Amino acid sequence: MTRQINIGPVTLENPTILAPMAGITDVPFRRMARENGCALVCSEMISANGMIYGQEKTLAYLTMSDSEKPVSIQIFGKDPAIMADAAAMAAGRGADIIDINFGCSVRKILKNGYGAALMKDLSAATILLETVRSAVSTPLTIKMRSGFDASGEDAVALARIAEDCGVDAVAIHPRTVSQLFRGRADWSVITAVKKAISIPVIGNGDIVQPEDALDMIEKTGCDAVMIGRGAVSNPWIFQQVTALLKSRPAPDIHLEERCNMILRYVKDAMEAYGETRAARMMRSRLGWLVKGMPHAARFREDIKQIETHSQATEIVSEYFTRIGKHMENERGAIHAV
Ligand SMILES: Cc1cc2nc3c(=O)[nH]c(=O)nc-3n(C[C@H](O)[C@H](O)[C@H](O)COP(=O)(O)O)c2cc1C
Repeated sequence: MTRQINIGPVTLENPTILAPMAGITDVPFRRMARENGCALVCSEMISANGMIYGQEKTLAYLTMSDSEKPVSIQIFGKDPAIMADAAAMAAGRGADIIDINFGCSVRKILKNGYGAALMKDLSAATILLETVRSAVSTPLTIKMRSGFDASGEDAVALARIAEDCGVDAVAIHPRTVSQLFRGRADWSVITAVKKAISIPVIGNGDIVQPEDALDMIEKTGCDAVMIGRGAVSNPWIFQQVTALLKSRPAPDIHLEERCNMILRYVKDAMEAYGETRAARMMRSRLGWLVKGMPHAARFREDIKQIETHSQATEIVSEYFTRIGKHMENERGAIHAV
């Protein structure tokens, strides 16, 4: 069942994609996802205005690494000319794919007419897509929600427009604009979008367990799955999904592998941001990676003290030694019964 998919000329080796997530999907996180078999990683949303006005902080989000390619850069904004310039800038810096955010429903974004607000005026969306399309030859995708009501009609209409404008693939997170992250994603909207267009459709929303990915492909017929929150606490999920796609059992990820991957993530973050800033980031980010594991609460307390790379390494290594012992004891206990 593992199939390659093509987004324009970019071939993805398997149908798994890391969702764009602000404050999460930076180079170190994306690299971790790629090393676990994710076929395409996406940057967090980047302001087209910020890019064009040369804001330093915004431009930093455009950082990419050869080791994570192919990478999709997601831009947000509403002015067609600015979005076209931003797309050209991202392409010039090496983005393999440009994605336009039609899905963010955060109040500040909507108020400015960005993100999901673009789904309200389909004529304006058409002009935006035509303008960006004519500015770059790089593969172009959009990521959207169901729309302003639960019917999914907005998404189907926008998907058709996107295809007509030469967009190469469409990702859909089937929650309404007002739903934010509440309730469940309505996968039937993915099915409706898939039926309406012939470019690849990427399904997103509520893939938590590896099995959910196969379930989504089977139920909706989508060409690829995009995983967000499920990958934040389990970046290994891509290995597990790709195994299932090959009709193999999803592997258990051993403690040593988890530990090494987390240490590498710490190292990459230290290199990317410098020790002081990375140490601050690790105080919360490392907590994501131990969700559901024994003694996670104590680990989350311990990481609050991180100030240096070596301290982070020590806390992570000690934690894994401790839970290794814990698990041996557990096994011993089971054995003894
Ligand atoms: C912390 C966080 C940040 C997000 N940032 C973005 C973003 O920058 N751009 C975007 O298109 N979607 C963003 N999303 C939405 C995700 O890409 C995805 O559509 C959503 O989480 C549903 O997928 P999931 O159930 O697999 O998490 C974000 C989600 C979360 C939880």
